[in-house]
Amino acid sequence: MGNARLDAIFSDVLESLRRVIREHRVTEGEWRLGVAWLTEAGTQPNEIPLLLDVHLGAAVDDVNNAVETGTENTLEGPFYVPGAPLLIAPYVLPMRPDEPGERLLFSGTVRASDGAPLAGAMLDLWQVSADGGYSHFHPGYPDYNLRGRLATDDEGRFEVLTVVPVPYEVPKDGATGRLLAALGRTAFRPAHLHVKLTHEGHRPLTTQVYFEDDPWLGRDAVLGTDRPSLVTRLVRDDGGPARCSYDFVLEPQPAAVPA
Ligand SMILES: [Fe+2]
Repeated sequence: MGNARLDAIFSDVLESLRRVIREHRVTEGEWRLGVAWLTEAGTQPNEIPLLLDVHLGAAVDDVNNAVETGTENTLEGPFYVPGAPLLIAPYVLPMRPDEPGERLLFSGTVRASDGAPLAGAMLDLWQVSADGGYSHFHPGYPDYNLRGRLATDDEGRFEVLTVVPVPYEVPKDGATGRLLAALGRTAFRPAHLHVKLTHEGHRPLTTQVYFEDDPWLGRDAVLGTDRPSLVTRLVRDDGGPARCSYDFVLEPQPAAVPA
């Protein structure tokens, strides 16, 4: 006996594609071009996961992790590494002695949906460096560079020193990049801080924080659209590090569904 759910999903995928072929009157030449392009993607390492993540990952994330009363979720992305160092206040993300980039003081609060501050909420932060790399994925970075876990204080507040992240491009040498170029889209993602938040009794949240005035906001190669609720402002006014803040809200853990 076949898998009924697989059958239902695959049938819908096929019907959606047939509808596209009919509506756009896809020519045989275009069809052969599409087959050749997919074949090319399949022969390149990691190109199919990249292609699917770039175009469909956010939809899967939204279906499974959409938030109702808390801070909006966003994709985890491919660069998370578990086990980042547990930091001790005053918090500074691990960085190289000569870490390039403008220093950034990132602060904020973590609260419950009813506004109550969440003491001891854990933030697991990771980000790209100012020279455009993620530790563990790009060569030349110490393990856990610009990655760390930190807890909020008794009033649900946190403050951590890091560097201002930069916009970066998703890999564009393969079939995914050729498609983006053909569509007239760039491979850039706006600058962002990645964070996973956890607190007992609350639904874990994975999201990203962006910055106003980023030239790539609104044309993110991955999300395509803005998530205005996740945009904060970089403030540079006192000669010290740049500053930004974000107040996160975690919604209650849903009641367990009986098996
Ligand atoms: Fe990222």
